[in-house]
Amino acid sequence: MTYYEDFSPGSANRLAPRSWVRSTAPTLSLNGDWKFKLWPHADAPIEDPANWDTLPVPSHWVLHGDGEYGRPIYTNVKYPFPVDPPYVPDANPTGDHFRTFTLPEWDVDRIVLRFDGVESTYKVWLNGTEVGVGKGSRLPTEFDVTDLVVPGENSLLVRVHQWSSATYLEDQDQWWLPGIFRDVTLLGRPSARVEDVWVRAEFADGHGVLTPEVTGSFPITLSVPSLDLSVTWQSAADVAPIEVGAVEPWSAESPRLYDCTVSAANETVHLRLGFRTVRIEGDQFLVNDRKVMFYGVNRHETHPVLGRVFDEDYVRENLLLMKRHNINAIRTSHYPPDPRVLELCDELGLWVMLECDLETHGFEHDQSIVDNPSDDPRWHEQFLDRMRRTVERDKNHPSIVIWSLGNECANGRNLAAMAQWTHERDPGRPVHFERDLASAYTDMHSRMYATMEELAQIGTTGCGHGDIRPEEIVRQQHRPFVHCEFGHAMGNGAGSLADYQAVYERYPRLHGGFIWEWRDHGILTKTADGTPFYAYGGDFGEVVHDGNFVMDGMVLSDGAPSPSLVEYAAVIAPIVFGDEPGTLRSRYHSIDTSDVRFTWTRTDDGVEVGRGELEILPVPPGESGLFELPQEALDVAVDGETWLTLEAVSGHVVGSRQYRLSPRRPVSVTPGEGLGGAVFDPRTGSLLRIGSVAISGPRLELWRAPTDNDARAGEWLWRERGLDRLEHRVRDVRIGDDEVIVDVRVAAATAARCVDVTYHWFGVSDGVALRVDAVPSHGWDCTWPRIGVRFELPSVDRVSWFGTGPLESYSDSSTAARVGRFDSSVDDLNVVYAKPQETGHRPELRELDLDNRLRIGTVPDRTGHRPGFSLSRHTPQQIAAAAHPHELPPSDRVYLFLDNAQHGLGSAACGPDVLPQYALYPAAHSFTITFRNPS
Ligand code: GAL
Repeated sequence: MTYYEDFSPGSANRLAPRSWVRSTAPTLSLNGDWKFKLWPHADAPIEDPANWDTLPVPSHWVLHGDGEYGRPIYTNVKYPFPVDPPYVPDANPTGDHFRTFTLPEWDVDRIVLRFDGVESTYKVWLNGTEVGVGKGSRLPTEFDVTDLVVPGENSLLVRVHQWSSATYLEDQDQWWLPGIFRDVTLLGRPSARVEDVWVRAEFADGHGVLTPEVTGSFPITLSVPSLDLSVTWQSAADVAPIEVGAVEPWSAESPRLYDCTVSAANETVHLRLGFRTVRIEGDQFLVNDRKVMFYGVNRHETHPVLGRVFDEDYVRENLLLMKRHNINAIRTSHYPPDPRVLELCDELGLWVMLECDLETHGFEHDQSIVDNPSDDPRWHEQFLDRMRRTVERDKNHPSIVIWSLGNECANGRNLAAMAQWTHERDPGRPVHFERDLASAYTDMHSRMYATMEELAQIGTTGCGHGDIRPEEIVRQQHRPFVHCEFGHAMGNGAGSLADYQAVYERYPRLHGGFIWEWRDHGILTKTADGTPFYAYGGDFGEVVHDGNFVMDGMVLSDGAPSPSLVEYAAVIAPIVFGDEPGTLRSRYHSIDTSDVRFTWTRTDDGVEVGRGELEILPVPPGESGLFELPQEALDVAVDGETWLTLEAVSGHVVGSRQYRLSPRRPVSVTPGEGLGGAVFDPRTGSLLRIGSVAISGPRLELWRAPTDNDARAGEWLWRERGLDRLEHRVRDVRIGDDEVIVDVRVAAATAARCVDVTYHWFGVSDGVALRVDAVPSHGWDCTWPRIGVRFELPSVDRVSWFGTGPLESYSDSSTAARVGRFDSSVDDLNVVYAKPQETGHRPELRELDLDNRLRIGTVPDRTGHRPGFSLSRHTPQQIAAAAHPHELPPSDRVYLFLDNAQHGLGSAACGPDVLPQYALYPAAHSFTITFRNPS
């Protein structure tokens, strides 16, 4: 068996795993330009590198060389090669990386060569002698090279195989990106050094306790200057827990860190301690004795240009973007990130579920495959080795509160062994693994994409899914539950985030969850004619791929937050204002509200008429408070709409709510004389113009460009029923001086089921009104994407409106929407999703102004409901036909949609479909719109 196909976790001479720390011992970064040669197979001769190309390290070779070194491949579940473990195809791209370095004149005892991440298996030679083999792409490997280095120049060769036995354990849903993608470092290890260190910092009753574990050359001193603490141990036997007195605890909301040094005679290691105690009590997951609710996201390492290569500014900016959107937790799906990510989590404050680099999902893809590695003793050592390296590398980080064994591997003894080892090594952090359905060897109950019903069952009877025995259900009932993935944020969506949050809050055993996922994985590339775009699966000519399933983040590939992120921020906001103005509830875990500034704003018809600060006594974490509003905040205008907006700000918005103060008043439109400047086609009764503004329509529209969620739910039936290809037959046109009435039957080819619609135009005092009555025939058996009318205009650039905004919103994704006055360019109204789809709907429109040339109003129905609007340069049919934004045809038109309703978003791309209360079922709709030219 070749070294890249055997079951070993790497060569036996790898050094024992230890903490990744900052140290004063000398290091030499071996990052930079290396010589590079790509082979199409694994068993190439070792060549003279003189004429090789140049490649930066760290990098993925497929992201360099403009295709010369192959291209990225995207698959989700399936392996991109035959499942023939532990073997891989002969076609196995193999990159030889070579560089020289000058050995510094270090006064050290040992010299170590460290690789922080190489995908997937590699062999190393130093000065022509074999050093060893590394496996485990996102885990570090160290080799002792003391006897191989020479004074002066040294040569280093690293042969990296894209495919290996390790690949079978690294089937995560992401791009396959081979290469030396994390740092390579030469470490000088001084004679009197700190070999490894772990300082557990726990918190109880306001006090800190340090439990150090140190190996190295004694005497060793531990100091925490800000606590006036300095302890020297003469030998390992002296190392003992230290009571440090009063300390401030660490939490995601208040990430208080204490600088700590651990020094031997020739080396000082720097740690940043955060005092916190993680504990499960009954079914409650507690940090510092308080329940933690995870407002989390799954975070992959992905950068549109660099792939999985770490870029500190980029990562910091992303984590700050999370914090600004009230996110308090990340699951490092599905492998340990670059170690510096965890330093940032400690510093900025995020609860971390740290997951091991392990997934064998592709074994489930083909039902004929039974020999899943998870229960196969031949893989035992490689499973265990990965967990050891995960825990040992990152054990010092206060942000890590849960260890996760991996993702989507079938259940098995190898996982149970990983859990057992972890429990023994670190009793201070619970172990998670979603596929341990019966919680046989893990501490938390976990599911992904559970339905509301299942969550309710988990919250009450204990178990939401079958296949587990009664005694196992009892065990489940005593485990905290975490929803490790939910809210699949692919394209426009996911819907129902607020419904999930409500369920999490209803059942004490539930502890929130982690959105799938933080960011789209688009790779910046170009079309043949040089147009830049963000690529997804299939864009690099892959033989098998999973298309745009890799574009499922709340942040788009270019870094723009999508409306789903803004929705999530509103849903999980730490300050929740009550149903009536004057009460609030804090969702904070450990801080009170003394840093929060509260304001009120009152608007009449969208225009601000008053604003002020609110004095609210600090509300302790998790508690509720009462406050008073001044009378001027509550005054109601005689006519029009009055709204009170309360806002809580602590650096960013941490809570917001609107209250409608004015009653809903019936609005009637009184017919006037004439047709308000509207001109119609005498044959079809179609609108041609209003005053000087060319505008044609209306046309009943039931179709929307399917969202990624629709594509895995309603879309096939919608297409089957022909909603995307409706035909319109004018049945009757009556044109009078003061009114125009047009009857149209709308139906698809082959179908008898139809919608009969009457467009009734009549003059109003300063314009013209259109009443739309749409009545479906019997026989409809699918939901409708939308029910509305479409108009076409030659061009529109800027719009302003009084209605909901500022961003798009849908029936199951509207927590972030508020009522107000907004303006925008037409293009900025819509989101550039990786695959074009429905975007830009803003329900409950009051008034819309197009380029200050045409003003469109809506009339509330008996319930106060009004139609919403969207504007697009393309029809839904054109949008649905485009795979990428740059494929949309040039357009000199603008389409205006006035939708009385739209179907919800749901999460069917991966998870539950639109809930019934947000679904649009065929029904009769009547709505009225007015048009006028502003004077
Ligand atoms: C889950 C999986 C994730 C991702 C997601 C769908 O099953 O754990 O890695 O594939 O589905 O995007």
